[in-house]
Amino acid sequence: MHDYLIDMLECPICHGALTWRVVEYNADRIQEAEAQCVECAATYPVREGIGLFLTPDLPRDDLWEQAASQLILYLRDHPEVERQLMDAPLDTLAPVDQFFRALVLEERGEYDRAKVAKGLARSGLYTPEYLACHESQINYVVEHLTASNGPIVDLASGRGYLVEALARRFRRPIVATDFSPRVLRRDRRWLEFFGLYDRVSLIAFDARRTPFKDGTVETLTTNLGLPNIEEPGRLLAELRRIVSGIFLAISHFFPEDDEANAKVIREARLDPLLFRRSALDSFTAAGWQVQVANVCKGKALPTPRSELLEGAGIDALPAAQTMLEWCVLVAR
Ligand SMILES: C[S@@+](CC[C@H](N)C(=O)[O-])C[C@H]1O[C@@H](n2cnc3c(N)ncnc32)[C@H](O)[C@@H]1O
Ligand SMILES: [Zn+2]
Repeated sequence: MHDYLIDMLECPICHGALTWRVVEYNADRIQEAEAQCVECAATYPVREGIGLFLTPDLPRDDLWEQAASQLILYLRDHPEVERQLMDAPLDTLAPVDQFFRALVLEERGEYDRAKVAKGLARSGLYTPEYLACHESQINYVVEHLTASNGPIVDLASGRGYLVEALARRFRRPIVATDFSPRVLRRDRRWLEFFGLYDRVSLIAFDARRTPFKDGTVETLTTNLGLPNIEEPGRLLAELRRIVSGIFLAISHFFPEDDEANAKVIREARLDPLLFRRSALDSFTAAGWQVQVANVCKGKALPTPRSELLEGAGIDALPAAQTMLEWCVLVAR
C-alpha cells in the first residue's frame, strides 16, 4: 500500500488513531509495517505490500481461499484429471473448466495463457446479454470517473475485473480491497505481470467494518461487490461514514416475483441488495441519495457445471433462468 493511505486510515474496531512502524519501504510504497491502535492496542500488519485490516469478530467465508486450495488438493490427488484440464485443447473444455485451467495457470505464473483461458471461459459461462449489460456498466463507471484526480477506492474487488479496467484507463491512484488476502495476493501478481501495479494499493478488510476515517474516501466504486456481501446489515451506513464524494456501485437486480432465485438469495442472506426496491430503501435508510443509472436488462442462466471436476460450479446465482436488471447505483 502507498504511504498516502496512512492519513486516511484508523482502527477498524474502535476508530482509534494508528501509530505506524514501517520496516520496509519501496519508493512511496509501504512493503512491511505494523500499525497499532492507540486506543485498543489492536495491531494491523502490512505484509508484502498488502495492508491487513481484518478484525477477528466478523465471520468470513473466504471462498477464494477455499476454492484455490480445494482445486489444488483435488488435482494433486487426481493427476489424470489435471492432465485433461491442462493438456486438452482449450476450446474442447467446458467453460467452467477453462476457468479452472486459468486458476491453475495463475498459480504457475503463466498469466498470458491464464488471460486467454479466462476470456474464453467468460464467453461460455454467461449469456451475450449478460456480458453486454455488464460491459456497459463498466464503461459507464469509467466514463463517470474522469473528472477528479484523487484515489479511487474499490470495494470487494475480487479478481479485479473493474480494478484492471480502471488501472488501464487512469493515471489516478487506485485502492483494491477485499476480505480475502489470498485474492489480493493474486491481484498483486497479476497486476505486476501486466505492468499495472504502480498506482494500485491493496488492502484487506471487511466492507462492513472498514479502516477508513470519516469522509476520507472521495470516490468509491464496486463491481458487483454489494450482492456478494452476506448479511449486509450496517454495510451502507459504514460506507456512508467514509465516503465524502460519490459511490458508483455496479449492480444487478432480480425480478420481485422470481421465487426460484429468491429462495436461494434468502438462504444465502443476500436479499437486501439483490432486489431493486429493498436495495434503494436500504441506501436511503443509511442516509444516501441514490439514483439508478444506465439500466440494461438481459437474460441470465445458471452457469454450466464442470465436466472434469465432479460437477463443480462457480456462481451460485442465478439458480434458475431469469431476467436481470443491470445498472449503476450512483449514490452521494
Ligand atoms: C466476485 S467479486 C465481485 C467482482 C469483482 N469486484 C471484480 O471486479 O472482479 C466479490 C468479492 O467480494 C468479496 N467479499 C465478500 N464479502 C465481503 C465482505 N464482507 N467484505 C469484503 N469483501 C467481501 C469476495 O471475497 C469476492 O472477492
Ligand atoms: Zn482500536
